[in-house]
Amino acid sequence: MNVQDLDSTARALVAEGKGILAADETVPTLTKRFDALKIVSTEDSRRDYREMFCTTPGAAAFISGMIMYDETIRQKSAGGTPLADVLTKQGILPGIKVDTGAKTLAGSPDEKITEGLDGLRERLKEYRALGARFAKWRAVIRIGETIPSPRCVSANAHALARYATLCQEQGLVPIVEPEVLMDGAHTLERCENVTGFVLHSVFHALFEQGVRLEGMLLKPNMVISGKDCPKQASVQEVATATLRCLRRHVPAAVPGIVFLSGGQPSVTATAHLDAINRLGGPKPWAISFSYGRALQDVALETWHGKKENLKAAQQAFHYRAKCNSAAAAGRYTDGMEREAVGR
Ligand code: 13P
Repeated sequence: MNVQDLDSTARALVAEGKGILAADETVPTLTKRFDALKIVSTEDSRRDYREMFCTTPGAAAFISGMIMYDETIRQKSAGGTPLADVLTKQGILPGIKVDTGAKTLAGSPDEKITEGLDGLRERLKEYRALGARFAKWRAVIRIGETIPSPRCVSANAHALARYATLCQEQGLVPIVEPEVLMDGAHTLERCENVTGFVLHSVFHALFEQGVRLEGMLLKPNMVISGKDCPKQASVQEVATATLRCLRRHVPAAVPGIVFLSGGQPSVTATAHLDAINRLGGPKPWAISFSYGRALQDVALETWHGKKENLKAAQQAFHYRAKCNSAAAAGRYTDGMEREAVGR
């Protein structure tokens, strides 16, 4: 492995004012999103949808990389160019989701373990040849009265670390994603404790497996109140708890932290990112975004599966990308949203 290439790719993904578009939903997940809007999900409609993001004029000013799903990295644009090449030409790095999903953890029916290590080296080789420069693996941790269990956290941390070492061996920057879900009625404090415990376990496992921290990115959840918690923390409280938790558990050698949006409304996800970046004190890593729903939702609704809406949908995506780019630099204002409405 060429460590200089790994490190510079990791840094390029979090270049100033840039973040990542996560567009790696599996076919069943994307079909569910399409169904909700009565869009028919076919190989072609999914290709048209993903191509819309790859070809949005000017997106590369705000988007450094796009995470694709296996189906997408094998697809060609309407003009016959592989979508990975379309992205590269735009100046956006192609990425690929490589886990095979979260399955029930044996002996603990309410918890999940992410699978996909078998045959991973060969799959990574193939994805590299198809143009991928970085990869993603998502572990899912649920908060409940008696969960997460220590064994769920350690099994997921171990899998993340084995995935990350394999990626680096094959010249791909691993995005390490341990997601503590916002589902549930837990408080902000409980989310902070669980997130801290999970990050501690993950970095311990990364150390054990010899992962090069300079050549990876961390994709965590923000520290927020559970969706059903009667007391919802303010933007400022979320920012303070999130940064405190990251400072305690993420080594300074990691070049960037790129948050997932996790089901937060799009504008809230932007406001939280901005507030975190505006806080004073040490922030040794770039802090940016790797949003899925928070970047795609408005564009998907605008597009609605119709060719005639393509340009408007691209404008909607471009606008959310611009707002999040500003938030990654701590320069977002809610006036930007009013400007969007007035467009
Ligand atoms: P969301 O931003 O919609 O949570 O998606 C990010 C992601 O990649 C989840 O794995």
